[in-house]
Amino acid sequence: MTPAAKKIPATLVPGDGIGPEIVAAVVEILKAAGEPFAWERHDGGMSAIKKHGDPLPPGLLASIRRTGLALKGPLTTPVGGGFRSVNVRLREEFGLFANVRPVKSIVPGGRFEHIDLVLIRENVEGLYLAWEHYLAIGNDPQAVAISSGVNTRAGGERIARFAFDYAKKNGRKKVTIVHKANVLKALTGLFLEASRATGEKYKKKLKTDDRIVDACAMQLVLNPWQFDVILTTNLFGDILSDLMAGLVGGLGMAPGANIGDKAAIFEAVHGSAPDIAGKGIANPLALLLAACLMLDHVNKKPTADRIRHAIDRVIRDDGLRTPDLGGKAKTKDFTRAVIKRLK
Ligand code: NAI
Ligand code: MG
Repeated sequence: MTPAAKKIPATLVPGDGIGPEIVAAVVEILKAAGEPFAWERHDGGMSAIKKHGDPLPPGLLASIRRTGLALKGPLTTPVGGGFRSVNVRLREEFGLFANVRPVKSIVPGGRFEHIDLVLIRENVEGLYLAWEHYLAIGNDPQAVAISSGVNTRAGGERIARFAFDYAKKNGRKKVTIVHKANVLKALTGLFLEASRATGEKYKKKLKTDDRIVDACAMQLVLNPWQFDVILTTNLFGDILSDLMAGLVGGLGMAPGANIGDKAAIFEAVHGSAPDIAGKGIANPLALLLAACLMLDHVNKKPTADRIRHAIDRVIRDDGLRTPDLGGKAKTKDFTRAVIKRLK
């Protein structure tokens, strides 16, 4: 087999705003690390609307269906005008039921040191189905707003199995189930029950405990080190994962993975940052860390660890930072420095 034939086909979406800049940086770093991907490049987001009339053109979807693997730059969601959220469409299209968001302190001197947590969020059920409607009273057609959340035992067991398997595979010690079963007894009670039952099967290897979401939010700020892996529902996961990103310096450091049975899409948690697009100062770290998760996913953890180590050296030893982290480095300086540390 030729070296090219050994490469893993993967879809690459440069995206909008700072997307093309940070994607270029990440592709260059992956190349220097001997990356195993053969990229299929596709437009998505605003750039795709201009060319194809759809932020998720059929060619892009077909590519992900074929490769089952994508690295995606941020996509600008058009305001108004009949386009549904691109991210929700991707989740639905590929059944990406698990959202994995690790947070780790990299930049020293932050508010919290030695943070190393992973949040696993159920990505397709709960209140985010957004089954909503209004009831009229008198002259007010929208006097009452009603939203239905839907959790299924099968969905709870599926995400719990994913979380416990992830914890086991990644040498984690404990999974904390986060819920609000004291009030939402059916909706999040079922999630808690399904997660606990699944946890029983892993009890030789992993500890399990649980927290009510509001108490968990406080404890994450008071003593985040007591947690390891957090497993929770869609809405709570959305909120807590942003809180956790805040513990380690904000969105510029936060990668995310959306994983289903047939496809996995890796991205930075932040958006297209139109305010700094084209200035060459975007921080490529979050997308680079997402690419590391992608390498983990295809069993190339040693390569991912080499890149993570190089990032650590650049931040800690070289002291190089982009402006969002209080430094002066440009995207290109940071990219070059990581590549140098890979050697
Ligand atoms: P944003 O995350 O793009 O920007 C928020 C602030 O953080 C801005 O000041 C920006 O300059 C800064 N920032 C973000 N990423 C950065 C990076 N890598 N380096 C340096 N600074 C960075 O959020 P915003 O402004 O609310 O959204 C902009 C667009 O992005 C919207 O159209 C939104 O819908 C879209 N978006 C897309 C996401 C995705 O594709 N996954 C996720 C979030 C937002
Ligand atoms: Mg969110």
